[in-house]
Amino acid sequence: MGEGIDGIVVSNTTVRRPQALRSPTALVQEEGGLSGAPLRDLSNHVLSRFYRYTKGRIPLIGVGGIFSGADAYAKIRAGASLVQLYTALAYEGPFAIRRFELELAHCLERDGYRNVAEAVGADHR
Ligand SMILES: Cc1cc2nc3c(=O)[nH]c(=O)nc-3n(C[C@H](O)[C@H](O)[C@H](O)COP(=O)(O)O)c2cc1C
Repeated sequence: MGEGIDGIVVSNTTVRRPQALRSPTALVQEEGGLSGAPLRDLSNHVLSRFYRYTKGRIPLIGVGGIFSGADAYAKIRAGASLVQLYTALAYEGPFAIRRFELELAHCLERDGYRNVAEAVGADHR
């Protein structure tokens, strides 16, 4: 497994509508992909499954509901070597990235990791 595959982006938006959504019903019932915080747990679950299946042999790019360094860290622990975000940029702008970096560095240091690579897939060990 793995030949010819540089990485897998996991995942994208969801067509599901999690119970916890608080938006007006008309918005909740709109068709199309849902992004952002309500997607976080779903995408982390899918990411974990991909990591277990690929056994860490293919770099995974974790996407879905990242709004903090701790969110990025959760994806890294679940198996992401890289993370990608979209909705947080729309809400908070590009300067949020610096905050996320600092928060992520704090999470890594707190748990005794010297770098991101050491923490990739930590939830599976
Ligand atoms: C307005 C909007 C446009 C998007 N366009 C694309 C796209 O063209 N191609 C793609 O692969 N994903 C697209 N996405 C999905 C995002 O790349 C990302 O997978 C998804 O929004 C989940 O991440 P997030 O919760 O950080 O937004 C789009 C998302 C949004 C909200």
